[in-house]
Amino acid sequence: MIKIAPSVLSADFSKLKEQIKQIEKSKAEYIHIDVMDGHFVPNISFGFPIVKTIRSLTSLTIDVHLMIENPSEYVKEFIESGADIVTVHYEADVHIDRTINLIRSLGAKSSIALNPGTPVNLIENLISEVDMVLIMTVNPGFGGQKFIPYCKNKIEELKKLAKKSNENLLIEVDGGIDINNIEEISKLGANVFAVGSSAFKDGDIENNVDKLIRRV
Ligand code: DX5
Ligand code: ZN
Repeated sequence: MIKIAPSVLSADFSKLKEQIKQIEKSKAEYIHIDVMDGHFVPNISFGFPIVKTIRSLTSLTIDVHLMIENPSEYVKEFIESGADIVTVHYEADVHIDRTINLIRSLGAKSSIALNPGTPVNLIENLISEVDMVLIMTVNPGFGGQKFIPYCKNKIEELKKLAKKSNENLLIEVDGGIDINNIEEISKLGANVFAVGSSAFKDGDIENNVDKLIRRV
């Protein structure tokens, strides 16, 4: 079974509450929140208040994707704000082992994200220590980009490693996912799909999520 995580980066913030309610009515199980600091990625998005607001509106799993430098300094406050899963970028943290343990000790699920150019084998020893790995399938920072084809190899590689050391590992993909590629990507082993533009297209989230799920 796959999980869809609509990414609110593509939401219409003038009607955030209605859109969250629409996500709740849809078959999506997660809500993906992209936090960007203007340093780790060349864009700035949102922080704690938005996570708190979304938490107050939903009981769905909140999947916070931190595209920030020094993530360990902020994980506690994101968890207190309502994050159920916290993803930190491997590239942003030289003490990633410490940070994933910190996330778990604070009661959330821990996850590591890899940029497209970062090889999967760098985290081989950490696969047994996390709940999820997020394979970025675009360069992080913006919605609406095109899926990078070579990332498919990374999903397959991660799936193989997970079979050996963590069969329950959630494998999330993020960037450029749509109804034309979701089936192929799920067959490679991905089971959580962060979807921005294809989920919010024309404001019909329920229908868009339904179409994505029906493709798999
Ligand atoms: C990009 C973000 C994504 C983004 C995906 O840096 O991490 O979550 O919202 O958007 P789409 O699905 O439009 O590529
Ligand atoms: Zn994301």
